[in-house]
Amino acid sequence: MSNISILGLSGSLRNARFRRGSRSLACEIAGIETEKDLVDYLVTQTKIRADDFLEAGLSSGAPFDEVYRALHRKRFERGLSNSEAATTTALWAAHRAGAQISHIGLAEHFPPNGPVRESGRLAAALREADGIIVSSPVYFGDRGSLVQSLFEFIASDPDLKRDMAGKIYGGLAVGAKRNGGQETTLIYQMLDMLNMGLLAVGNGHETTAQYGGTAKAGDVGTFASDPYGLQTCIGTGRRVARTALMKSRKENGGATLADKLSIHLWLVQDSEDRRGHRYFKSWAKDLSDRDPSVDVRIFDAASDEVVRCIACEVCPTHLGDAREYRCIITSPDDFFVKHHRELIDADAVLVGAYCPENSSAVKSVYQQFIERTRYLRRDHYVFEDLLVAPFVVSDVEARQNLHIRMAGSMMRHHTVLNRPIIAIENEGQILNAAAVARDSDLFVARSRELLVGRYLRNKEATEYRPVGYQISAAKAREEQASGVMTQTINRRTADHDATALSRLALKKSGSK
Ligand SMILES: Cc1cc2nc3c(=O)[nH]c(=O)nc-3n(C[C@H](O)[C@H](O)[C@H](O)COP(=O)(O)O)c2cc1C
Repeated sequence: MSNISILGLSGSLRNARFRRGSRSLACEIAGIETEKDLVDYLVTQTKIRADDFLEAGLSSGAPFDEVYRALHRKRFERGLSNSEAATTTALWAAHRAGAQISHIGLAEHFPPNGPVRESGRLAAALREADGIIVSSPVYFGDRGSLVQSLFEFIASDPDLKRDMAGKIYGGLAVGAKRNGGQETTLIYQMLDMLNMGLLAVGNGHETTAQYGGTAKAGDVGTFASDPYGLQTCIGTGRRVARTALMKSRKENGGATLADKLSIHLWLVQDSEDRRGHRYFKSWAKDLSDRDPSVDVRIFDAASDEVVRCIACEVCPTHLGDAREYRCIITSPDDFFVKHHRELIDADAVLVGAYCPENSSAVKSVYQQFIERTRYLRRDHYVFEDLLVAPFVVSDVEARQNLHIRMAGSMMRHHTVLNRPIIAIENEGQILNAAAVARDSDLFVARSRELLVGRYLRNKEATEYRPVGYQISAAKAREEQASGVMTQTINRRTADHDATALSRLALKKSGSK
């Protein structure tokens, strides 16, 4: 067991676990050995919560406000609401991945009205965690008010906000229906967390590598009947724990990167007069002047040809070495045909765009660029665990929301997201240059920490699963049966280990 700790926060108005109940929950989760035992536990505990409601008067037809008051008069240490069940599932996976775990029900701190209760205890628990998992019921396609109160609590305390920066965040959303707004809830939550400086991850590659846990459960007591939702919660818990382990300096024993950090900036949108390109070039020079061990490489896709994806069913065309270009599009002038080999050597990625007020003067290849990265995602997540941030230079009146779309799409590459860097321009002047420099330096520092951890941890045998595609799934089954899939993945793991040895400076044992 590591020293990494993951805190699960449940934002349900129907929370069953308070204080001692939260502590016993963490102990109970730690004692669950198998996924089957987990499901049995969830079935029992969510039923207890459903029975609580019946006993509080629902079965005798009492009005719901009376039931609600009767429930609150009791002190519970058993049972789980739906979003608590989602947190439990994710915490179980985090614990299995080697993290210590704890739980807080947000209703404990944020009463129906009046000020926050025991703010010091909540702040201390947040500070102590290396990673947090926030679970919310979906209300109107967004978070519930308890989760909103948590966000306001962090945002309104500058010291706490500073201490939360750099921790790992993952989200879970439970709604009554499919397409009830689980994904919108997760995306809004992710953006707020990124803006407060946390690093965001989604659920793992074992399910779908998307925005977090998405479960379908309406009535109390129904969470365990959505096995796919359960898997996405497991994937999120595991990913938060693994990423927190990867980023932890204490876990990485003082190892550092021995050579230069290579940041790739993909310039995907610019004005016709190339203001964006000039800005990013001068930004890169300033950054390298401040930190000579950073190398920024600008890939000027905006002035290049990026052929649209043709949505073929064999993406990538065949299994092979990551260095080999294997998209079906082969036109010699295409950006990816020309730059594939260099692109895959990134240590961290910034997706750069210039957004002037006048959009008719813009050359943008953003959308075709993102769709063409599909072959890299489906090649067992080439950019997995790299730190990524949108970097947008935007006129105050541009209103493009490009950084939101960039964050959403890049998360699908199984990356770790960093707060978007946004330079605001007005009449040709950057208004927040100092903030951009500060955000850029933080991005560099975090990229290094994460990269070192990525090299030190045993590489996961990451496999892209073609969920939702019959033809691709049949191809994957053939590749598995013939053993080529395992060979390819093993070769990648060996490459990863060799690169790690050559790029890391390990601290000698006994040295300080
Ligand atoms: C005010 C309110 C708004 C809701 N809005 C949505 C919604 O937009 N989409 C959805 O799928 N479910 C919606 N629901 C259903 C809850 O998300 C669902 O019952 C969930 O399981 C509650 O989790 P809990 O048991 O942890 O409280 C809403 C429920 C309430 C009370």
